[in-house]
Amino acid sequence: MLTLPNTQPVLRPGMIEFGWGHPDPTLFPVADLAAAAAATLADHGHDALGYGPAQGPGRLLEAVRARLGRLEGVTPPPEQLLITGGTSQALDMLCGQLSRPGDVALVEAPTYHLALRILRDRGLRLVTVPSDVQGMHVETAAVLLQMLRARGERVALLYLVASFSNPTGVSLTRDRRYALAVLARREGLPVIEDDTYGELWYDAPPAPTIYNLMPGGPIVRLGSYAKVLAPGLRLGWMLASSEVVRRCLETGVLLSGGGVNHFTAHVVATLLEQGLLDTHIERVRAALHHRRDVLLTALSRHLPAGCTWGAPLGGYFVWVRLPSDLAAATLLPAAEAAGVSYLSGERCFAEAGGQHYLRLSFSLLSPVQLEEGARRLGEVLRAALGVRR
Ligand SMILES: Cc1ncc(COP(=O)(O)O)c(C=O)c1O
Repeated sequence: MLTLPNTQPVLRPGMIEFGWGHPDPTLFPVADLAAAAAATLADHGHDALGYGPAQGPGRLLEAVRARLGRLEGVTPPPEQLLITGGTSQALDMLCGQLSRPGDVALVEAPTYHLALRILRDRGLRLVTVPSDVQGMHVETAAVLLQMLRARGERVALLYLVASFSNPTGVSLTRDRRYALAVLARREGLPVIEDDTYGELWYDAPPAPTIYNLMPGGPIVRLGSYAKVLAPGLRLGWMLASSEVVRRCLETGVLLSGGGVNHFTAHVVATLLEQGLLDTHIERVRAALHHRRDVLLTALSRHLPAGCTWGAPLGGYFVWVRLPSDLAAATLLPAAEAAGVSYLSGERCFAEAGGQHYLRLSFSLLSPVQLEEGARRLGEVLRAALGVRR
C-alpha cells in the first residue's frame, strides 16, 4: 500500500485536537440529507444519475441565485455562477485558467495553509502580503504588484479569505474590501475571495463580499457547502465574470465528465428548495458561537501572561500569539505528550513568519474538551516559560 501524507483527521485517543479545522460530524444534517436524497431519486432520479450540465443542475443554480438574492439583496446573473466540487477544486480549476507555472500569486500572511499547497501544486510562486486585525494590507498589495510587474513578473492572481479568516478569524474591513475591489479592477488583477466561512457569523453578517462591492470586476467568489452542511458532499459554487465561467466550462474535464458531483448537487438543490439549509446554518452558528465563548473563557483562565488572542466574530479559529521566547512548532511535541495538539502558525505563512503563533480550531470539540484542552495547553506553556501556577 502507498503511504500518503494524511490531510484528514485521525483523532488520536486521549488527544484534544485543536489542529483540525473540520466541522463536527455530530452536527451533520444526516436525516435531512437522507430524506433529500430519497426525494431526489424519487422526483429527479433519471436526471440526477446521468451526466449533468457542465455548469451544474439548473435546479441548484436557481436555488443558489434565489438564496443569495434573498440574503444579500443581489441576485447574480445565471452566466456568472458555476457549481464546483468545493472551494479546493474551484481554486485549482481557477489556477488552471488564470495562471501559468512560474507566475506569482499574492497571498495573505497568514492564510489557509492548504490553499498555499493548491497554488504551489500549480507551479505558482507565492509572495506574501502582510495583514493585521483589519485583514490584508491592501496598500502593500498595490505596492508589491507594481514592484513585481516592474521586475517583469506576471502576477496571475491574489488569493484571500476575507471573512472569518483561516487561521486568524479576522475579517477584512469594508473599507479595505472596497480598496481591494478598486485595485483589482484598476490593475486587472484577478482576486479570489475564498468565502468558505462567510455564512458562519455569530451575531451579525460580515461586510459585503468584495465580489458584491464590484460586480463585473475581476473578482471571483468561492462558496462551499463543506462547513455549512458537510464536507463529504464535495460541493460549492463559484461566482465570477461570465468570461471566467465560460473558460472553466470549456475545459476538457467538464466537457468530458459533465458538471462535478452532479447527484450531490441535485440532493443539495432539494435541501435548498425545502428551506432546510437556513435552519441548519442557524444550528451550526449557535453551536460555534457557544464553543467560541467556552474556549475564550478557558484561554483567559489557563494561558499564561504574555499570550494574546483576538475574539473571532465567526468561523472556526482562534489565533494565539505566544510570548516571543516560545516557538509553536518546537513546543508541539511537548503539547502532544500532554494530550493537546494545534496547528503551528508558520504553516500558514508562504514565506517566513508565524513561529510565535498557533491556530486553535474549536469546531470539532465539545465544551468539556475545549476547557480541558486550554488547561493542558496552559500547563505546557507555563512549563516552557518556567512559570508556576
Ligand atoms: C479557508 C478555507 N478554504 C477552503 C477550505 C476547503 O473547502 P472545500 O472543502 O470546499 O474544498 C477550507 C477548509 O478547511 C478552508 O478553511
